[in-house]
Amino acid sequence: MSTSTYFITGCNRGLGLEFVHQLLARKQRVIATCRDIATSTDLTALTLKHSGQLSLVEMDVSDEASMREAVALLNGEAIDVFINNAGIYGPRDANFGNVDGRAMAEVLYTNAVAPMLLTQLLIDNVRKGSGKKLVYISSKMGSIADNGRGGSYIYRSSKTALNSVVKSLALDVAPEGIAAATLHPGWVRTDMGGPNGLIDAPESVSGMLNVIDGLSVANTGQFYNYDGSTIAW
Ligand SMILES: NC(=O)c1ccc[n+]([C@@H]2O[C@H](COP(=O)([O-])OP(=O)(O)OC[C@H]3O[C@@H](n4cnc5c(N)ncnc54)[C@H](OP(=O)(O)O)[C@@H]3O)[C@@H](O)[C@H]2O)c1
Repeated sequence: MSTSTYFITGCNRGLGLEFVHQLLARKQRVIATCRDIATSTDLTALTLKHSGQLSLVEMDVSDEASMREAVALLNGEAIDVFINNAGIYGPRDANFGNVDGRAMAEVLYTNAVAPMLLTQLLIDNVRKGSGKKLVYISSKMGSIADNGRGGSYIYRSSKTALNSVVKSLALDVAPEGIAAATLHPGWVRTDMGGPNGLIDAPESVSGMLNVIDGLSVANTGQFYNYDGSTIAW
């Protein structure tokens, strides 16, 4: 397999960290972002083992200036695959009658506004790469078609907004040969998914990497489950 450069957000734990592990094992180059390198001990340990392959960049996606600074540090380096993974759930009790506006705005910013802005900042790097793939970790909870239970207003609407961003983006960048898709990782045992998740991070990420490997402008603009099946918007 030839070497590609992956730029991934939220890599200090959970699915982001697992993406880094699996891509390093595949001998790929990874630019991994996290909010605070000093406390990201798993990531810093990996840089010692894979010094030429892995670079760490600090970035807080709730802060536009931080995103700008992080992208500037790339000095125009080509990116083959951008994986927007960082995300938050917000308050677990966001049921009707109990939705806090400030908390909702914060989750919408992190999960939908930041991916939009970061893509605008990174697109020239992606144009320079040969992979030309934009990948966004969404959630089946953002599927309007799949919503049979109601509730979870904040998280659901943030991922629905992300899906809408990515659908437009896929149409806009396809003429340049760039593919874009949203992925549902499954219900995964991470800090966010909790201990009752149905799968572990290695299974989720190996499935998502298969989907990413197969992503092209021929199948762009879709919402994929980690097993490769499509999910209705
Ligand atoms: N686990 C599941 O079952 C599941 C299901 C569907 C979708 N997802 C999605 O999968 C993605 C990864 O989730 P996960 O399960 O790995 O969650 P996680 O274990 O809670 O990890 C979330 C990651 O996002 C980062 N992050 C959060 N806010 C950030 C910010 N403002 N700036 C930079 N980084 C930030 C966190 O960094 P800090 O440590 O600095 O907070 C952490 O690295 C998310 O988009 C999530 O919505 C997960």
